Amino acid sequence: MLTPQENERITRVGPGTPMGALLRRYWMPVAAAAELAETPVRKVRLLGEDLVLFRDRSGVLGLIDEPCPHRRVSMEYGIPEESGLRCPYHGWLFDHAGRCTEQPAEPWNSTFKDRVATRAYPVQELAGLVFAYLGPQPAPLLPRYDLFVWDDVVRHIGITELPCNYLQCMENGLDPSHAEWLHGYYMRYIYGRKGETIAVPMDGARHHRFRFDVFEHGMITRRIVEGASEEDDIWRIGASVVFPITRRVGTTFQIRVPIDDTHTRHYNYVVMRPGIPVPPQDAVPVYELPLLEQDGKYNIEVLLVQDFMCWSSQGPIARRDLERLGQSDIGIIFYRELVREQLDRVERGEEPIEVYRDPDKNTCIALPDVNSPRRPAQMITGSQSSAAGDLKYSPIRDLVLSLREEAAEHIARGGPLLPAPELPVYPMGDSRHRELQLLPG
Ligand code: FES
Ligand SMILES: [Fe+2]
Repeated sequence: MLTPQENERITRVGPGTPMGALLRRYWMPVAAAAELAETPVRKVRLLGEDLVLFRDRSGVLGLIDEPCPHRRVSMEYGIPEESGLRCPYHGWLFDHAGRCTEQPAEPWNSTFKDRVATRAYPVQELAGLVFAYLGPQPAPLLPRYDLFVWDDVVRHIGITELPCNYLQCMENGLDPSHAEWLHGYYMRYIYGRKGETIAVPMDGARHHRFRFDVFEHGMITRRIVEGASEEDDIWRIGASVVFPITRRVGTTFQIRVPIDDTHTRHYNYVVMRPGIPVPPQDAVPVYELPLLEQDGKYNIEVLLVQDFMCWSSQGPIARRDLERLGQSDIGIIFYRELVREQLDRVERGEEPIEVYRDPDKNTCIALPDVNSPRRPAQMITGSQSSAAGDLKYSPIRDLVLSLREEAAEHIARGGPLLPAPELPVYPMGDSRHRELQLLPG
């Protein structure tokens, strides 16, 4: 339980707030590149700021304040020019740095434009996503996480807008017991009502033990379920929560981008690495993973939508002053501690974790994950998406299914697989951690 003030401190993301200042130290996706290909000028909202993202005719990206500084018309209706974005109302032109480079309606000898600028933020493209940085200069490097830079993969991105604060989504990654209940017992109940049975992720097993370790990128979550042991990867390797807005599930990143205090844009960034050659992708396809179906209901047969339902129903900003946390919430409590430590660091004028400034450390940031592509079974189900139900929304569903089949046949024939990327294993040792035993023995 937190006081209302403590809850505000870790959830408010707008300019001038403590959490807003912390989150502004990180690059965040502001759109998928494929969305810009569809519409080269897009209104976006990030960390409570209304902005316009554009790609000009020479391909340069820009992210500027939504209102035109002249008379406040939305630059959402702007015209991409050879260099910059032109306001539709009186033709003022702004470059990617926010400088006003033309004011065609002003007298020919006016120098007014040299004294006008709009706010602009740096943007960069990587692996099908457009990232923005809204923080203080100098901007850090855009992190090159492994799933963004691996070769021999097929990627696709499902986007969902959620009517809730980003922290509700993040806390879910530190909450192993929900897998047993929401994605187990509840999922079976839903299918049972239709007279169907379904294989649920943990196959009905109870959690025996959880453990959470702070590590250089954020937190590692580990668990042992009934019938498993300390030798199993899910304990030995664990899965990562990358500070501050990403969770890695298998070869998927779930990126929870705060639009504002009460909305989150969720990117389900799925990477399939079947271990056999894959067709090249000119662009990473993007699709809507709907929160609600046409009938206004959740499609709760989709695993991720079960999570979406829970996060959204906690309210726009969960009332952490009213919650009753048990021992099984140690991961959530521990994560809040980490968040508060990083808030304190920024308030002291220090840099928070997971900010990159050394190019040598940013060639390929490898993260531990239990669903390592070293293991053939996971290589095939790499995307996990069909079991989880969300693959049906993807425009490359057929490609993913046929690659999966092809890879399975290849393995069955004893064919060699492409060398797998190296994934780190962080030994448990003396890292800062919390652990809980749930069942005797
Ligand atoms: S309002 Fe934009 S140029 Fe006048
Ligand atoms: Fe979940």
